[in-house]
Amino acid sequence: MIRTDVRVGMIGAGFIGQMHSLAFRNASMARVSPSVAAQFVSLADQNVAAAADVAERYGWGAITTDWTETIAAGIDLFINAGPNSTHAPGGRQSRHGAVRSSIGRRLSRL
Ligand SMILES: NC(=O)c1ccc[n+]([C@@H]2O[C@H](COP(=O)([O-])OP(=O)(O)OC[C@H]3O[C@@H](n4cnc5c(N)ncnc54)[C@H](O)[C@@H]3O)[C@@H](O)[C@H]2O)c1
Repeated sequence: MIRTDVRVGMIGAGFIGQMHSLAFRNASMARVSPSVAAQFVSLADQNVAAAADVAERYGWGAITTDWTETIAAGIDLFINAGPNSTHAPGGRQSRHGAVRSSIGRRLSRL
């Protein structure tokens, strides 16, 4: 099976950020082609203790309080699991992004 390595960056070490960490950590279990192998490159959260805790438990390579550093870290995918206020600015600056929220009404602001 073809395997695709994806360098992932994420903002948000809260509930949804942890759910995404869990899902991407186990992405290779999904029966899809190509198979996805996530590399957890950079996790951003203004709460350093939360970021450090999630990084240790899920295996994030680096943490930062500034999500623009995460985007600049050479990632393929930016997961926006921050609060709604971060969705539009994060979407504007990332090449490939995923937002864990309903953004339909806000697309015009991206
Ligand atoms: N909780 C749910 O069941 C659920 C379901 C669907 C969608 N969502 C959406 O997912 C998103 C995240 O929700 P959550 O429940 O994980 O919230 P949360 O409060 O648990 O986590 C948000 C995290 O973002 C961090 N943060 C806030 N502002 C930041 C900033 N400027 N820079 C860096 N970090 C920042 C906070 O410190 C916190 O750790 C929201 O948009 C929410 O609407 C949540």
